[in-house]
Amino acid sequence: MTVSKKIKKYMTEGGWIRKMFEEGIALKKKYGERNVFDLSLGNPIVEPPEQFRKELRDWANNPRPGMHRYMPNAGYPETRAAVAAHLSAKTGLPFTANEIVMTCGAAGALNTALKAISEPGDEIIIFSPYFSEYIYYADNHQAVAKIVPTDRLFMPDLKALEKNITARTKAVLVNSPNNPTGVVYSNKTLQDIGNILSKKEKQYGTEIYLVSDDVYRKLVYDGVECPYPIQYHPRTIVTTSHSKDLALPGERIGYIAVNPQYDGREELINGLVFCNRVLGFVNAPALMQNIVKSLQDASVDIAQYARKRDFLYNNLTEMGYSMVKPQGAFYMFPKSPIEDDTAFVREIQKHNILVVPGRGFGAPGYFRISYCVDDWVIEGSLKGFKTVAKEYGLC
Ligand SMILES: Cc1ncc(COP(=O)(O)O)c(C=O)c1O
Repeated sequence: MTVSKKIKKYMTEGGWIRKMFEEGIALKKKYGERNVFDLSLGNPIVEPPEQFRKELRDWANNPRPGMHRYMPNAGYPETRAAVAAHLSAKTGLPFTANEIVMTCGAAGALNTALKAISEPGDEIIIFSPYFSEYIYYADNHQAVAKIVPTDRLFMPDLKALEKNITARTKAVLVNSPNNPTGVVYSNKTLQDIGNILSKKEKQYGTEIYLVSDDVYRKLVYDGVECPYPIQYHPRTIVTTSHSKDLALPGERIGYIAVNPQYDGREELINGLVFCNRVLGFVNAPALMQNIVKSLQDASVDIAQYARKRDFLYNNLTEMGYSMVKPQGAFYMFPKSPIEDDTAFVREIQKHNILVVPGRGFGAPGYFRISYCVDDWVIEGSLKGFKTVAKEYGLC
């Protein structure tokens, strides 16, 4: 036995995206790159904004003394101040650099936050469908993921939320715009969640954090507004990154922001800084911190994603596939035409199309399409989607 039983089990259950990725490689070997339509991975296809390259050139051509050294574990004060200024302008909350901790991506931010707040056995509420790594992140810190359903529009089921909060609930995790559904939570939904949290905190005499995974915040379409959960609960911890909004997932640059109106923030931030260090991240990448300092208001060109979404959504719904129209991120989450989503995924794979079964996100009966891919991938997949739609009587 080389790895623990638990990890072996997790790898079997939770490796859907990776599995599809590997099957895609095998299919590409067999049929050729251009004959496989891989819609399984959320790896941004667009390039970072030109401003990013300009900054990168500047730091390479004009090295500053000490720019590759350790810095305070929370990150460079100037970068944290720039993040704080951006968040203050957007939310109206009085952020300062003190409320910001720079991290290795959103994954690093989530793990740092969950480690800092969790006692063994604490419950972290996660809405399904969910980004599957959340379950493992909770387990990393001896917390337990408690799954609460959403409604038919993928909005949190508030009654179920209220019922599932216990004296052991340490946090409720929200992700809007959402992976895998693309839905954006409204002000009203967030207000309701905030109200439920304060009611339950009073009932149990506990503190419950709202952890807001904001990684897709800037990817919203049709002028949709993406409200800030941090405005609805004082104990909100924002975890995010520039993996999607600046298309920098390989550079591992993100941050945590703590609500400046939370009276326990000083101790929490000290805990976050400690956890960032002892998790082995130590600090977020120095060069990237220096570069994103001036890019807080920048974003990739989201018009490209909006166009891909519209094209695919219009074609698939015309074929009879049913789905909630995504308002953000770069995923759609249609209903599987047959109950067994893995059988559907196998069927569509016969047409060299790779998608991920909904059960990989805790929602059997659906499948996830990632449309942050080249146009030829989307266009090439249509024939297979249509054949399978006909096979299952959708059109
Ligand atoms: C919902 C969600 N949260 C967090 C992450 C992790 O982001 P990062 O690459 O910045 O760690 C992802 C990555 O796809 C994601 O989809």
